[in-house]
Amino acid sequence: LWVFFVESVCEDPEVIAENIVQVKLGSPDYTNCNTEEAMEDFKKRIKCYENSYETLDEVLDRHLSYIKIMDVGRRYLVNQVQDHIQSRIVYYLMNIHITPRSIYLCRHGESDLNVKGCIGGDSGLSPRGKEFAKYLRQFIQSQEISDLKVWTSQMKRTIQTAEAVSVPYEQWKALNEIDAGVCEEMMYEEIQQHYPLEFAMRDQDKYRYRYPKGESYEDLVQRLEPVIMELERQENVLVICHQAVMRCLLAYFLDKTAEELPYLKCPLHTVLKLTPVAYGCKVESIYLNVDAVNTHRERPENVEVSRMAEEALLTVPAHQ
Ligand code: G3H
Repeated sequence: LWVFFVESVCEDPEVIAENIVQVKLGSPDYTNCNTEEAMEDFKKRIKCYENSYETLDEVLDRHLSYIKIMDVGRRYLVNQVQDHIQSRIVYYLMNIHITPRSIYLCRHGESDLNVKGCIGGDSGLSPRGKEFAKYLRQFIQSQEISDLKVWTSQMKRTIQTAEAVSVPYEQWKALNEIDAGVCEEMMYEEIQQHYPLEFAMRDQDKYRYRYPKGESYEDLVQRLEPVIMELERQENVLVICHQAVMRCLLAYFLDKTAEELPYLKCPLHTVLKLTPVAYGCKVESIYLNVDAVNTHRERPENVEVSRMAEEALLTVPAHQ
């Protein structure tokens, strides 16, 4: 068993003051204090902590595995990285930052296949989808965001949405919608009819279920890792993506479980503005007032799932 130490040493007075304002003022210790009193008190508290604080020592602790982060990333000291997971931790810690910024997540405008009730495919925007794209442009302008990066997938519907926003954008293949394999371009009812066992199995474990010749949410999370890492590095970004992809990104930022992830609500024509704050993310949901179909399929009741699975297993055609 390897132990890996992470030490964060911050002596930058500006960062300390900002941290007290952002994090400590809201603590129950300071409910009846004004900002200055709280600030003074907390600085005294830091002094007390310093008396007993023991830093990792370059010479004495040379046999230990650790990363020491100075002034939230101005400098790092990395020592004795032992395995893959430790190197991943180092990589992650060297890529995150605390500069204030927002990440805007939305799906493409409503597509022709959305209107038909089909999943997957690579169709273009419906008239209402095009309308949404125009509203998205206005919304983004109204936010007056400095140095906004816009990312899309390589699918027609996200590219058409970004085109209407009229800002330069970058296409990521990794942002493409979950690959539904043999079920691409089918309606849920059709899937249930043609692949009853598959349909029931997906309901039983939507996160791990992999479509034949396609992907699972678990696969998608892996595919999105480089996107997430780059999101950590960037400042303001608008990601125009897809339902399943948006669920994965949202789950990462909101710390949702694998169980919750595939059922997160990411409706069309709605922008989620995520603003990292201490210990989490503030979420604002902005519906841009253009009607769209509902593509969310609720988690079936447990009883229902097992009944369906049973029936599916009994009625499974020989070729499956
Ligand atoms: O298959 C494409 C959908 O956007 C993902 O939705 O995972 O809830 O079926 P679903």
